[in-house]
Amino acid sequence: MGRIITVTSLKGGVGKTVFSASLAYTLADEGKRVLAVDMDLGTGGLDIAMGREDTVCATLIDLLLGTTLPENALFPGDDGVFFLSAPVFFNESQLTGVTQERFNALLAYLKENFDFVLFDMPAGGGAAFSFFEACPLVDLTVLVTTSVPTAVRAAERCAMRLEHPEKCKMLLNCYRLSRPKDNTFGVTEVIQRTSVPIIGVVPYDSGSEKALAKGVPLAADRKSVVAGAVRNIAHRLSGDEVPLLSGVLARRKRYKFY
Ligand SMILES: Nc1ncnc2c1ncn2[C@@H]1O[C@H](COP(=O)(O)OP(=O)(O)OP(=O)(O)O)[C@@H](O)[C@H]1O
Ligand SMILES: [Mg+2]
Repeated sequence: MGRIITVTSLKGGVGKTVFSASLAYTLADEGKRVLAVDMDLGTGGLDIAMGREDTVCATLIDLLLGTTLPENALFPGDDGVFFLSAPVFFNESQLTGVTQERFNALLAYLKENFDFVLFDMPAGGGAAFSFFEACPLVDLTVLVTTSVPTAVRAAERCAMRLEHPEKCKMLLNCYRLSRPKDNTFGVTEVIQRTSVPIIGVVPYDSGSEKALAKGVPLAADRKSVVAGAVRNIAHRLSGDEVPLLSGVLARRKRYKFY
């Protein structure tokens, strides 16, 4: 039985899509059967982040409405990751006929057939958020934040609004390895302020925009610090105990987390 994970935030632009792409890539690289789903309905970008921009893929809406059967729609890309893209045109009325039972049944099918199903959510949760909140099959919500105060406050508020905060873990993204002289928070402070257990810290990578433009997940550069950090998270998700900053600090000895 696989695990269903949503990657979410209240604030936009904190790195949900970039992280989802890297996590999907890494889990597949480690031999897991992974499905990545773009839930940013109408404006999704996970296809770009995963280098699938020109690939015709079914959407979760197709499967929910039964216009396509999962067994006909799901196939792996070169990276081994199965993918469902976001519909190009979407309005909420498309979900009118979708019942919670139908939604749960589809997630049960996906859970049976994959080790990990990752949903890259839009900021604020989007049109399908209530289905996820009411679905008992969702195992984990990864709440993404950066160390910028506005993002941390949004994470705090998002955690407070979740139906199942006990299923939530926080990802601190874009973390600067050297202490900047600004008002960003340190790891401990972010954990204290959000009161959410942490699943991992992903460092800031100046090559992010370039990787995004090329359609290559950041973690595909296996020697990079980001790849190490995402691998740690993949191992934690598989049940291993990995120290929070394992490997990340070792490569950058002259830096200290704060
Ligand atoms: N670890 C990182 N290091 C440096 N830049 C990053 C990192 N992660 C994400 N970014 C950058 O942050 C920006 C936003 O990333 P992304 O699109 O993944 O955010 P998002 O949370 O999915 O946004 P939205 O809420 O609009 O869906 C991008 O320009 C991306 O390159
Ligand atoms: Mg996104």
